[in-house]
This record gives sequence, C-alpha cells and structure tokens, in this order.
Amino acid sequence: MSRTMAEVNRLLKKTAGLINDDTASPFQGEFRVGVDLGTADIQTIVLDADGNPLAGFMDWANVVRDGVVVDFFGASQIVREQVRRASAKLGIHIGRVSTSFPPGTDSRISTNVIEAAGLEVAGVIDEPSSVAKLLQLDHAAVVDIGGGTTGTAIIEQGQVVCSRDDATGGRHITLALAGHFGIPYEEAEEMKRTSNDLALCRLATPVIAKMADIVHGHIAGRKVPAIYLTGGSCALPGFLEVFAAEFPDVEVVLPSHPLYLTPLAIASYSDVLQAREVRAG
Ligand SMILES: Nc1ncnc2c1ncn2[C@@H]1O[C@H](COP(=O)(O)OP(=O)(O)OP(=O)(O)O)[C@@H](O)[C@H]1O
Ligand SMILES: [Mg+2]
Repeated sequence: MSRTMAEVNRLLKKTAGLINDDTASPFQGEFRVGVDLGTADIQTIVLDADGNPLAGFMDWANVVRDGVVVDFFGASQIVREQVRRASAKLGIHIGRVSTSFPPGTDSRISTNVIEAAGLEVAGVIDEPSSVAKLLQLDHAAVVDIGGGTTGTAIIEQGQVVCSRDDATGGRHITLALAGHFGIPYEEAEEMKRTSNDLALCRLATPVIAKMADIVHGHIAGRKVPAIYLTGGSCALPGFLEVFAAEFPDVEVVLPSHPLYLTPLAIASYSDVLQAREVRAG
C-alpha cells in the first residue's frame, strides 16, 4: 500500500471539519465532486485536483432502502441543494459529479438521482472499489458497515473479486439501544452518534458480534490478510476493539472518520477535473 493510512486520515479529518460549513471560501482551479447516496445519509464532497477536501455536505436521509431509492424526488432534492451549497461556498459552477452504487445493485439507481438533480454523471464506481483505489489496496477486504447492511468486498490484485452484503447495520445498533433504554428510535440514534460513553458499545456488542459473523461468512475459504473498515457504524467508540477481537489473525484497520471514507473515495475516484474541462471546451 503506497498511500499511508495517516495520509488518508488527514484527508478524513479535514473533510470532517468542513462538513456542512457554508463559510465562503472562493476557489480557483481544478476540482472534482463525488456524491454518495446511502441508506442513512447523502454526502457531497468537493476536492481539489490533488485530492484535498474543499467542501463537504451531508444530510441524514431516508430515501434509499436496500439499494432502492424509495423517495426518488427527496434524494434528488437533497443532492441539488448540497451541490448548490458547495457551489456557493466555493464560487464555482458544478455541472458534473461522480457517484457510486453498492456492489450487486443497479448503478442506474444512483445515476438517475444525479440526473434528476440536474447534474451530469462524470463517473460511477462501486463503493468498495472506490475505497480500494483511494487506499491503494492490493490484497485485502473492505468491510462497509452503513445504516442497514454489512458488506464485504474482497480485493485481489487491486480489483474487487467478490462482494457480499447482508442485513445488519447501524440501524440495528440503534434498535438495541432504544430497546435497552426504552426510548424512541430517533432519540437512541442521536445518543449513539453523539455520546462517547463506552457503555453504549457494551450494549451494542451482540450486534457487532453479529456483524463480525456476517463478515466471517463473507470471507470464508479466502485468505484475507487485512480488513479495512468503512461506514459510519464503525465510528461507535469501542467498535474496533469488539470487532477486531473476532478476527485475531487478521489486521483490522479503522480510519479516523469512517463515516466520510466512502464519499471521500468516490470524489477521489472522479478523474474529471472540471475547471480543465471549461478551459478545454
Ligand atoms: N459517531 C457515530 N457512532 C456510531 N454510529 C454512527 C456514528 N455516526 C454515524 N453512525 C451511523 O452510521 C450509519 C450511517 O453510515 P453510512 O453513512 O456509512 O451509511 P450509508 O452509506 O448511508 O448506508 P448503507 O451503506 O447501508 O447504504 C448510521 O446508522 C449512523 O447511525
Ligand atoms: Mg454507504
């Protein structure tokens, strides 16, 4: 791996600091844009030509379920607004964006949303491949634990050779917390995302163990030297320790802000540099 995790963590930290910050910071130069349409949230990230984050917008959303856009209009409205805010912040015109899809789903689900938002699709890539490219992985597994599912993609010689996805994600952690405390789902979700109390992780341990079981099933019979985690659910304080204990013989790597890794990777993947296009055209 030639790009160090420290370098990616620096980009993730920068992204985290920019999220939903509308402060004007006019930008001149080449840039690229990625949009991640997830089941739990939608994110738009703008990078400069060297891959440094310039702007990032995120909204919690309930517009995609099981890879299907259940609220097509809602999703495209969110994308349109995020792109509008990014354009206003940077003083640029964004006409094209890259997007992604979970492996095994139809990429048109995402591209239709992008087009309905009045944007052109600059590129489309499956999510684990984008992460594998950003991290320059050669032989490893990318495990994405998002809102609804745990997905594993096996990378060999830099390519996804197999990928699987099963229900159990952050939603199930929230349900366990809501049940334990006898509080509404939304309240448990907010507590989970904002608390640093390791007691929450102890309560979530059976769900995390289930996620690890799913991943064991996904990688069964294959040699996997390392697991790279992505997806917001891995951000739960204590998550890494519980999850990694289930894989004593595998290096388990957690990025500093796993919620932003996939969107950052999607934006980095885009090789369309928009300012250059304008000059060339
Ligand atoms: N700090 C945090 N601690 C624990 N969980 C978190 C934290 N931040 C976000 N999450 C959880 O991460 C999940 C969203 O992650 P992510 O954005 O990777 O999912 P997604 O891409 O929208 O979903 P999917 O990959 O299933 O389509 C939600 O369940 C959310 O509760
Ligand atoms: Mg996702």
